[in-house]
Amino acid sequence: MAEALLLYEGKAKKIFETDKQDEVIISFKDDATAFNGLKKDEFADKGRVNLAFTKYFFNLLETGGIKNHIVSFIDETSLRAKKVSIIPLEVVVRNLAAGSLCRRLGFEKGIELKPTLCEYYLKDDSLNDPILAKEHIKYFNYVTEKELACIEEQALRINELLYTHMEQKGITLVDFKLEFGRTADGQIILADEISPDTCRFWKKGTMESLDKDVYREEKGDLVGSYKVLADILGLEL
Ligand code: TMP
Ligand code: ASP
Repeated sequence: MAEALLLYEGKAKKIFETDKQDEVIISFKDDATAFNGLKKDEFADKGRVNLAFTKYFFNLLETGGIKNHIVSFIDETSLRAKKVSIIPLEVVVRNLAAGSLCRRLGFEKGIELKPTLCEYYLKDDSLNDPILAKEHIKYFNYVTEKELACIEEQALRINELLYTHMEQKGITLVDFKLEFGRTADGQIILADEISPDTCRFWKKGTMESLDKDVYREEKGDLVGSYKVLADILGLEL
């Protein structure tokens, strides 16, 4: 692992080459960033905790028929994944208004969004991940129309599965971000991670965050909040 070639380093993960052409190793870092990297800190144990959440949520979704890029788990902070070409879209699904939606359009935080809102952002840090209209996606061919339909269908199904599961645990899934990858044979599958870094979770009936807003808004102990969530889910860390 120490000698593996680093292919890419993102804000929260590193991707390494493996002995197989079609597989990579993804290692979860302890770094947390916000506001496109303007705020950056390291939190002991965050990588391990986020990998555990990703395993939990991806397993749950797989049972519900959603395929993902994970091949196997290597250790507490790294996993082996299919090498996919990452679709340059951040897919955000929103059940309640929060975050950039409130800032941009002036909605009151916590307002229910019915039907669920699905948004697309261009995955490009140098442009600060700008929001895209479907027209831009089609016009500039980021994905084909068929691929976009497949992404949206999966995103909404993922929302149904996660929302229902979390609701039963007493947690409201406010919103979350997904990334998808294209396999060598052209399938679009769920990639990246699902963790409290990429979702907003509120204790049901409150706006108490158990997610990265704790760090974004400096509301307390980040990893401590993630561990409270793990405990609620019965996820052993
Ligand atoms: P936003 O309200 O800041 O647009 O975030 C919407 C959701 O997407 C929220 O659950 C946090 C997640 N998210 C990421 O995972 N990565 C990001 O870079 C951003 C901006 C948001
Ligand atoms: N992940 C993004 C960043 O660093 C933003 C966020 O999650 O708020 O910069």
